[in-house]
Amino acid sequence: MPDAQTPTTTRGVRAAYEMIVVSNRLPVDYVESADGTPGWRSSPGGLVTALEPVMRAEDGAWIGWAGVADREFEPFAHDGIEIIPVPLTADELEDYYEGFSNDTLWPLYHDVIAPPSFHREWWDAYVRVNRRFADAAIEAAAEGAVVWVHDYQLQLVPKMLREARPDLVIGFFNHIPFPAYGIYSQLPWRRQVIEGLLGADVVGFQRAADAGNFTRAVRRLFGYATRGSIIEVPEEDGELRRVVARHFPISIDAAGFEEIARRPEVQERAAEIRRNLGDPETIMLGVDRLDYTKGIRHRMKAFGELLRDGRLSVEDATLVQVASPSRERVETYRQLRDEIELMVGRLNGDHGELGHPAISYLHHGYPREEMVALYLAADVMLVTALRDGMNLVAKEYVACRFDDDGVLLLSEFTGASDELRQAVLVNPHDIEGLKDAMIAAVEMPKGERARRMRALRRRVQSNDVANWSATFLEALTGAGKIPAGVSDSLSAAVSRLAGTERLLVALDFDGTLAPLVDRPEDARASARARAAVERLIASDDTRVAFVSGRSLESLREVADPPEGVLLSGSHGVELQLDDGGVTIELRDVEHARLARLTELLEDAASEADGAWVEHKPAGLALHTRRLPVTVGAALQHSARERIEDELPGITVRSGKAVIEFAVRSSDKGESLTRVRQYLGSTAVLYVGDDVTDEDAFAVLDVDDVGVKVGQGKSLAGHRVRGTEDVALLLETLADAREAAREHTSR
Ligand code: G6P
Repeated sequence: MPDAQTPTTTRGVRAAYEMIVVSNRLPVDYVESADGTPGWRSSPGGLVTALEPVMRAEDGAWIGWAGVADREFEPFAHDGIEIIPVPLTADELEDYYEGFSNDTLWPLYHDVIAPPSFHREWWDAYVRVNRRFADAAIEAAAEGAVVWVHDYQLQLVPKMLREARPDLVIGFFNHIPFPAYGIYSQLPWRRQVIEGLLGADVVGFQRAADAGNFTRAVRRLFGYATRGSIIEVPEEDGELRRVVARHFPISIDAAGFEEIARRPEVQERAAEIRRNLGDPETIMLGVDRLDYTKGIRHRMKAFGELLRDGRLSVEDATLVQVASPSRERVETYRQLRDEIELMVGRLNGDHGELGHPAISYLHHGYPREEMVALYLAADVMLVTALRDGMNLVAKEYVACRFDDDGVLLLSEFTGASDELRQAVLVNPHDIEGLKDAMIAAVEMPKGERARRMRALRRRVQSNDVANWSATFLEALTGAGKIPAGVSDSLSAAVSRLAGTERLLVALDFDGTLAPLVDRPEDARASARARAAVERLIASDDTRVAFVSGRSLESLREVADPPEGVLLSGSHGVELQLDDGGVTIELRDVEHARLARLTELLEDAASEADGAWVEHKPAGLALHTRRLPVTVGAALQHSARERIEDELPGITVRSGKAVIEFAVRSSDKGESLTRVRQYLGSTAVLYVGDDVTDEDAFAVLDVDDVGVKVGQGKSLAGHRVRGTEDVALLLETLADAREAAREHTSR
């Protein structure tokens, strides 16, 4: 049964999200049960399965349609994901979704297996609805946010976003094929669609061939220069903007599927399915949305002929076909259903026996556990799509077969066949070939089945959905370009620094010296980083400072700084130099403001369970990381309004799920400058990972070196991937400094 859940809403919240997914469908559809009870149910299709895990991890917002026409819903949280529904009227549903998306683009992009229809009013609706989705993202996105737009229904959104919000980082991923130019060029709006897509920074496809088709279409229609996966798009100001177009084959939560498959009750269910089917020798399985691209007719035809010719019998082999309902108001889909159901009836009538049907045909969707039990029961999985962007069913089957058994028969016209080379590959149009392949699959010896399945499983496990999204997001945000370790240019910069007379090494703590953890009090610098810091400060010509947003008290506790390390806390409000503690002296008026601020903020925090206030010498921070994003954002927003109203001129700084108020202003840049002047340093290395470190990068001189840890926009000249590489960088610097010293003393 669907996992229905009562909708919850957090009304009227406008939040600024750092990561937004935009897709036609939300991960949940609105449903009303027979007695009229409203609820939300997981929606169909591979996209949702692929993105749900990513979104939960990112604390992002998902913008999409709730699956029903003429209904408006407020934003709400579902299973840890913030949902922002976009409404569609019944007319728009007809023209934009059923019409242009699924009766123009879908058949066109799937190599015109069915004839596409071109209607100008459908196009108009497509433009209008794309605008609505774009507007929702424009409103919800934080400054510089990453917006990831999905699939053929929303190809105009990237350009609309770029025009309104050039600050955004925009990605697009096409889940379905992109056709060869000879086919694509039939589209009357072929230029507008490509212009829409080129609004993105990265346009992703399933297969290299899809990316190639797209790049060729760009060249043919616009004549833009392309080099490998880079397209140079001329901007109005004469600048060239580089758009990346390449393949990122999507995948599944392989470990999640395997975990379900290993459950005893799921295995028991698989055995039960087998018994219920009359204990045949071979169970063949097809699992598809009921779509003409899936080649369901071809596989049934081949199976029927094998029965007719006596190469298989219903006692030996049975076919289970799950065909989940899809797009039932589109005429081509209606016809398909009739044809399939006619075929099923004929085959069962001609070949079935009591207790031994030829085909068990199931026109429903099933919960994941039941699907996994079916995969485990199936000796041969039939994926015979005539054209398919990827086909995640093939990957799900492989992920579930931890017993290294079962045969995957896979159409070479699926994206998955680029990766799953050890499957039995077929051309589904070649019915004789398909029949032979089905027999080969049925008769395949156990050793060969195991060998092939092991190889398939390695592939699916190593490129799982987390890997897919990380690879895409890395390409999008630039982190993918950060080389592991210390890059050549960074090590050259380190060698230059090593020769300086009085060196200052200033280091942010959380996310730089210490990996980020769930509970701030658990943060600890890595042993390697600490050892390198100790080597650096062993000599008087090198000083180290820890520069943090934490209060000095909290910094001392978690960082346990070695003797001689200088400390800057509370974003530079507190400074500890060599003469010991420099706790700040608040003036009377600051004291009074801090007292009032404390009252106001404690008051605000008490409004939501899970919010808490952190006390600092000259300010307070309100933490909302344990609340749903919209609730946290609303709480921060109302607290900020009240506080700014009562305490004008107060310093406000917002971070990840935290907002800080200070009665004395300072930032890491001011603090770095003070430390540097105090020490008379001749050069500085500054390393940091957060937005607040940008103030420090901004005050660096030309001969200084700034290193940003991880992805995100930055003024720093260099990057490393993470805290391990920070430790390596500090070790490299310590080596170089010692070598330089030896050199001068010789
Ligand atoms: C394919 C498309 C998705 C779509 C899904 C279900 O996987 O790539 O974008 O959501 O089919 O189709 P539907 O029309 O029901 O959303």
